[in-house]
Amino acid sequence: MLKTTFLGHSCFLFSDGKYNIIIDPFLNGNPQASVKPDDVDVDYILATHGHADHIGDGVEISKRTGATIIAPNELAIWVTAKGATAHNMHIGGAYNFEFGRVKLTIAHHGSSAGDSGLEYTGNPCGFVFEMGGKKVYYTGDTGLFLDMKLIGEIDAIDLMILPIGDNFTMGIDDAVRAVQFVNPKMVIPMHFKTWDIIDAEPEEFKAKLADHSAEVTILKPDSFLEL
Ligand code: NI
Ligand code: MN
Repeated sequence: MLKTTFLGHSCFLFSDGKYNIIIDPFLNGNPQASVKPDDVDVDYILATHGHADHIGDGVEISKRTGATIIAPNELAIWVTAKGATAHNMHIGGAYNFEFGRVKLTIAHHGSSAGDSGLEYTGNPCGFVFEMGGKKVYYTGDTGLFLDMKLIGEIDAIDLMILPIGDNFTMGIDDAVRAVQFVNPKMVIPMHFKTWDIIDAEPEEFKAKLADHSAEVTILKPDSFLEL
């Protein structure tokens, strides 16, 4: 069993009944989030990149709960310097954690952090991970890339979570193509409507995938999907 709860923007909680993980824990300042960083109790934090709408409250949550931040090496170094606990990885590498195996995938995007927004945090990533007997591909912030076909060939993806908001990431049409490349069973769109500049319609995305076997679930913040 895998329970996937959407906390707004790109932040998701995953639970298998034993372990809890959070991805891209942007809660403070997230207009879609009602959950506060202090309410989060997790074993691991997966962080795709250093942008404030992704690493978010990760350091604070790690310090309070002891949760390990799983991140690309440079971002892991950055959060460690701020007092968090981290597990450094990099793109193409995988590791068996208590809850399941996590592999880092490429993402075509940027990654920087800090008050200036320009502190170096390496390359951004996506994650393919196993939890509760399910395989999830969380693309992170990225444009469309042809290697998504390879990701779908290597692993049978149960759930794909991808951005549709355009401007900073894939828009709807490229996201539709990404789903066709990966061929997952289930799809959840993210990174839309948080701000006016990413005001994409998830219903349009879903309609454009009507003929595809993948089932699209549009989660409202604080709602969940159980697989
Ligand atoms: Ni970003
Ligand atoms: Mn973003």
